[in-house]
Amino acid sequence: MKRTLITSALPYANGPVHIGHLAGVYVPADIYARYLRLKGEEVMFIGGSDEHGVPITIKAREEGVTPQDIVDRYHKIIKDSFEELGISFDIYGRTTSKTHHKNAANFFRTLYDKGEFIEKTSEQLYDPEAGEFLADRYVVGTCPHCGKDGAYGDQCEACGSSLSPSELINPKSRLSGSTPVLKETSHWYLPLDKWEPKLREWILENHKEWRPNVYGQCKSWLDMGLQPRAVSRDLKWGIPVPVEGAEGKVLYVWFDAPIGYISNTIDATPEWEKWWKDPETRMIHFIGKDNIVFHCIVFPAMLLAHGGYNLPENVPANEFLNLEDDKISTSRNWAVWLHEYLRELPGKQDVLRYVLTANAPETKDNNFTWRDFQARNNNELVAILGNFINRATVLVHKYYGGMVPTPGNFLEADKAMIEEVRETIKSLSENLDNFKFREGLKDAMNVARIGNKYLADTEPWKLIKTDPERTATILNLALQLCANLAVIFEPFTPFTAAKLAEQLGIKELKWDLTGKFDIIPDGIEIAKPELLFEKIEDSVVDFQINKLEEIKKHNQLNAWKPSPVKETVEFPAFEKMDIRVGKVLECEKVPKADKLLKFKIDDGMGGRTIVSGIAKFYAPEDLLGKEVCFIANFAPRKLKGVESQGMILSAEDADGRLVVISPSGPVRPGASVG
Ligand code: MF3
Ligand code: ZN
Repeated sequence: MKRTLITSALPYANGPVHIGHLAGVYVPADIYARYLRLKGEEVMFIGGSDEHGVPITIKAREEGVTPQDIVDRYHKIIKDSFEELGISFDIYGRTTSKTHHKNAANFFRTLYDKGEFIEKTSEQLYDPEAGEFLADRYVVGTCPHCGKDGAYGDQCEACGSSLSPSELINPKSRLSGSTPVLKETSHWYLPLDKWEPKLREWILENHKEWRPNVYGQCKSWLDMGLQPRAVSRDLKWGIPVPVEGAEGKVLYVWFDAPIGYISNTIDATPEWEKWWKDPETRMIHFIGKDNIVFHCIVFPAMLLAHGGYNLPENVPANEFLNLEDDKISTSRNWAVWLHEYLRELPGKQDVLRYVLTANAPETKDNNFTWRDFQARNNNELVAILGNFINRATVLVHKYYGGMVPTPGNFLEADKAMIEEVRETIKSLSENLDNFKFREGLKDAMNVARIGNKYLADTEPWKLIKTDPERTATILNLALQLCANLAVIFEPFTPFTAAKLAEQLGIKELKWDLTGKFDIIPDGIEIAKPELLFEKIEDSVVDFQINKLEEIKKHNQLNAWKPSPVKETVEFPAFEKMDIRVGKVLECEKVPKADKLLKFKIDDGMGGRTIVSGIAKFYAPEDLLGKEVCFIANFAPRKLKGVESQGMILSAEDADGRLVVISPSGPVRPGASVG
């Protein structure tokens, strides 16, 4: 029997998971695990939280709590929400577990004792006030590329460039605010270059079938030439380096985390070794594209250096999912968070799983929108899948009181339908075998389409009066088709599949490899039809869209900064501007100009006309009777045929809105401002 170890990237426990994580890693991994189990294969599906790393310590410091508090909080949120979404891990562990600390330390120690590391001394940034070495993220300064402040030692979020801390202009420690100094420190490095020939042959020669994005990234890393990589850090949070004299040093998070897959397997079963060392076991890593190098180069080099372990058979990494045409971002709160989704759209786990698979970023970045979510639910799940199952089961109840009718002879149309279903399921199977989950889902939906077409063509509701025998055959086959749908949708929409199986009296869903079509014995009774999907109303998605709009506004306000002060001018230059207060007597739109308003202003000097580009922000009547400030000695100019004798002063808000400036108390028209 085939045996497959499936791993899914361990999410950092410094925040909840969002739809990007789900679409990229957990939903496809779960589909694959469920599919293999349905085929009767032996599967171990590993998940867990990645609980080390600098972002966790930064978050803890910001909140004034311990890193352990942070990971305890998010580990629980993540674990519970995965479970509620039906992600069928055989174990969901954590890298702060005892097993993992011991296992990762042993792994390091084995490599250390075999002489697989080189020890090197280098200069690192150090905070002399705090007495600590500074991880890249702990240093901030001005970006050498775009000149913006607040760039981190590894990346400038303003312009996106990758940095090293030594490139920052005016670097400061985030621990104490002091200027970091360089200090010597020694670390252990894994010489990736030593493993380069093996990795080249393994990937570039023997795994040409990997996804082009994965293969291509590996090739470009290998072609650039591999370098030794540090596997320890000067930090307090992490797994202590198990070597004498290594006080204050921990394993680099990317060294310990993938070993977490092994540790979690150890916690899952005493037979863990067969999953990792038996050459008959295939290992598949599900990850996002930012993890490719770690899973295809670094971790395999660690496994090779250790010896005795299998290398992955495939690494089906996904591209990224955007949200409403904008990059998902934790810091900008631009995401659909799984735990919030589950709270706000209860019972709709399968809808999310379906939409994320239909839109999976398998070959390129993709986009999630709430309108598309609604459309796919209403036009596909409700109108195609739900509709077919409902029609078939309702008719069986209507004509046979819910007893499965006995079929008679098959006609050509029946045989053709069965054959088409068989072919489509075969294609679905091949797609899943090749990690093409999007295409696979299309096949599954096509099976429901075949069902709808079969009913529309054979019209059992008409035949029941004239040919009850034929009707029995048609409805038996329609029910068999429903049963096939329960099987093939199980990996994608497991909650619905379970409900349907129960309705049809199927005890255990199995993926039949012989292409057998009939699953339900005749003569049994099926349960009363129950709607499997319901329409999602506009109000539901409007609520979600509004929520995102609020976040966008909030972000704009947060990101807003006053523009830099202009060049210094002397008083006479200012004195030249004649700024006055006037009262708005009339105000109207300028025809054929959607931005312009025309004002009649009482300026205390007989009145004047001013045209101002604020029609988007004010209705004409809003400003009637208001006192406004204007430049009185501005050279007159024609706007859309109207002569404007001055300029009304306004301030621009963070969202680009113009607000007219008025004196805070009554002033006589024509009064000077200065
Ligand atoms: N925590 C990492 C991330 O979210 C993934 C770690 S995968 C593992 O990018 F292999 F290291 F576990
Ligand atoms: Zn920059």
